[in-house]
Amino acid sequence: MKILVTGGLGFIGSHTVVELQNKGYQVVIIDNLSNASLDVLEGIVSITNQAPIFEKLDLKDKSAVQNFFKAHQDIQGVIHFAASKAVGESVTNPLMYYENNINTLVYVLQELIKLEVSNFIFSSSCTVYGQADVMPIAETAPVKLAESPYGNTKQIGEEIIKDTCNINAKLNSIALRYFNPIGAHDSAKIGELPIGVPQNLIPYITQTAIGQRAQLSVFGDDYPTSDGTCVRDYIHVVDLAKAHVVALQRLLNKNNQTNFEVFNLGTGTGSTVLEVIKAFEKVSDTKLNYKIVDRRQGDVISAYADTSKANAELGWKSEHTLEDAMLSAWKWQKVLHSN
Ligand code: WQD
Repeated sequence: MKILVTGGLGFIGSHTVVELQNKGYQVVIIDNLSNASLDVLEGIVSITNQAPIFEKLDLKDKSAVQNFFKAHQDIQGVIHFAASKAVGESVTNPLMYYENNINTLVYVLQELIKLEVSNFIFSSSCTVYGQADVMPIAETAPVKLAESPYGNTKQIGEEIIKDTCNINAKLNSIALRYFNPIGAHDSAKIGELPIGVPQNLIPYITQTAIGQRAQLSVFGDDYPTSDGTCVRDYIHVVDLAKAHVVALQRLLNKNNQTNFEVFNLGTGTGSTVLEVIKAFEKVSDTKLNYKIVDRRQGDVISAYADTSKANAELGWKSEHTLEDAMLSAWKWQKVLHSN
């Protein structure tokens, strides 16, 4: 069974390709290599000994998308990761984000609705909730005004899919709202590859520990939390990848209740920044050099998932601990540093 993974050489995409291949799916990857390299394809093959079909293609090129689907009419499902995802960059370059995250989604959906049956998994984000009023956050929590153009593209993306599914009964879709994906494959052959100075916490921690960064800045310790630092739900990327396979199987087996469903993907546990640092120091047996600085604009105080819907309806739950994830991130960082 042939599954298309757009953005399949990215952080979550590559880990999902591995889990799809582990389950016997034939995978076609589309990636424009704007935020990934072909080394990732080698990493996938070295883990699974199976070579996905790879096509370098920019989904912003509508005719290229049309030609691709003409050549792959036997695709049974699509997992759509291809998008830009840096919150800060989206604020300074909104049009690039709307073009790259919205136009591409429209072009893929326009081709999917021409197929006999189509199963579509959308990479969404907990950022759609903004600062939720109630913790843990359930799928029924209100979608709030996005804090960034990036977050807005995820909200708009879900609306586009919902509206399209409303008039295309043959299009079955699931939006997966990720909390904070972290870590790397246990083989340390694939992992997160931040470009330039990392915006996210975990790569900044591991780059500081390896000596690539001088010191981690902790953005504020005066929040109303257990230790004053922000709370997030850090989910191991392999657990997240496995959730995509389970969601796809739900659609392929026609077990979905409606043709547009939403699931939160997290561990269900919130961790503060200082707790993450402590977990890292424990698994790496190092002392991390960090300092407390001012708050970062746009940060929400707390966000962690109510995972009961994914547990009950997908039969999925995360299996790795925060320490597992931090250790895998550290192993991966040491491999990157040795290359
Ligand atoms: C986590 C915590 C920071 C860096 C973002 C996107 C979200 C998703 C995941 C795509 C916060 C603190 C961070 C640093 C720090 N991306 N921090 N020093 O902002 O929760 O979520 O990435 O889907 O959509 O918004 O993740 O890792 O940037 O921050 O203190 O150098 O770590 O203040 O409390 P975030 P993050």
